Amino acid sequence: MPDVVTLIETDHRALEEVFSSIEAADGDVKPLIEQVRDMLIPHSKAEEQVVYPAIKQIAPGEAEDVDDGLEEHHHVEEMLKQVLAEDSDAPGADGLVAAIIGEVRHHVEEEEQLILPKFADKATPEQLDELGAKFEAAKQAALAELRGSR
Ligand SMILES: [Fe+2]
Ligand SMILES: [Fe+2]
Repeated sequence: MPDVVTLIETDHRALEEVFSSIEAADGDVKPLIEQVRDMLIPHSKAEEQVVYPAIKQIAPGEAEDVDDGLEEHHHVEEMLKQVLAEDSDAPGADGLVAAIIGEVRHHVEEEEQLILPKFADKATPEQLDELGAKFEAAKQAALAELRGSR
């Protein structure tokens, strides 16, 4: 099992691929937005359950950035729900999709440039490996829950 930082960054790259497809699409992007939801919500939940608490404990200086990150997760989740509840051609839908992509990109950059490097500095390789396994397990559980809820 790769370490938790590698796993998180791999998810981020996969998300970015879907974002690029959305930006390049000229038809209905709803199936792609659903794909974003299915990738992003379990990723975010697993970060919240497993990774963020560990960061606060091991790198307490990052607590404030982690709390900001949590807010961003919730905001993006709300926007995803909103855009998926509306027709794709509803007024403002394109702007909302662009806002989601912009906010996630900003969030990913903060995690990768700021939070995770400081955390990886303080954590031991064993901690990062162990968290990797827990992150994957939490993500699978959150995905099952998401699928079960619809
Ligand atoms: Fe992330
Ligand atoms: Fe995150």
